Amino acid sequence: MTRPCASGPNPVWHSPGVRETFRQRLQEWFETEGRDLPWRRTTDPYAIMVSEFMLQQTQVATVIPYYQRWLALFPSFPALAAADEDAVLGAWQGLGYYSRARNLHRAAQQVVAEFGGTLPPDPAAIQRLPGVGRYTAGAIASFAFDLPVAAIDANIARVLARLLDLQLPVDSTAGAAELWRAAEALLPAAGGCLHTSSLMELGALICTTARPQCLICPVREWCAAEDPELLPQKKPRRKLVQLEENCGWVCDGQRILLERQTGKRWRGLWKLPLLENLSAYRVAEAPPLLEITYPFTHHQVTLALCPAPVPEVLSADQQWFPRASDGLPAMPSPHRRAALQMLAKG
Ligand code: ADE
Repeated sequence: MTRPCASGPNPVWHSPGVRETFRQRLQEWFETEGRDLPWRRTTDPYAIMVSEFMLQQTQVATVIPYYQRWLALFPSFPALAAADEDAVLGAWQGLGYYSRARNLHRAAQQVVAEFGGTLPPDPAAIQRLPGVGRYTAGAIASFAFDLPVAAIDANIARVLARLLDLQLPVDSTAGAAELWRAAEALLPAAGGCLHTSSLMELGALICTTARPQCLICPVREWCAAEDPELLPQKKPRRKLVQLEENCGWVCDGQRILLERQTGKRWRGLWKLPLLENLSAYRVAEAPPLLEITYPFTHHQVTLALCPAPVPEVLSADQQWFPRASDGLPAMPSPHRRAALQMLAKG
């Protein structure tokens, strides 16, 4: 069966005039209904880049206070570039996915080294920075420099897949190529900021994953979706694999023992120590003090926290920290959650 695609029957893609009317209708809606978000009040490429890194895996409401604190601590590319990694990870504490913080730090260092601390208005150069993919480069180019450059995040992918009634997984090569072609076909000649913001906002507020508000959608007359809730299609998920992570809760008076990660994942962050790394520890018969689960790629990890005695000798990566929620260093989110629950128990 042939389906609508960027070059197919959806009238949005047919003529420049139709695309212009579509954009106008969308932008008028955005100008009255779009949210007033802190990063929409600036065109500073640094601030925009910070917001985009934070928003990559995190909700708007969670990001706002982090964004404001971050800009107060590290107000520019040079300020961030000069900060030490512990301060950077500490300011990211609680947002999770710390590789974003490390990449942002390295990107700032690269902007200082290569461009004297000023980001160039060049999407290709922006995309060469660590942690910056095609979406983030497009978002920075449109929001900071107002360039008409396509950017497809999850919200825009959903909007476009529905407009096209795209019957291909959006995370497949063919589906993604179709979306990027469509996004580029829809670009205005100028005014990338308003265009990208309004498409993104439509996905966030109207064209939502569940129960899209088609009746009040400003561009419904150009939408080809027959059953929008079934779109976008995604590739089948890999089967979940269960993993166990057994850690020790080691207290010595008002101190708790943590272990610094040296491997690739979570490098530089402090975790609850693995039981197998606690010297002189014999696996206890006692049940765990706490169990929490968290996802990791296609794994479901069960973190069990067991009581453990103070080791006679600490390894080079182990260190004591104050037994208080504000004394914790930068930790992976699940470990921090487990430690906070233990501290709350007293
Ligand atoms: N998600 C990613 N970038 C965003 C932005 N600039 N505004 C709102 N949500 C976003």
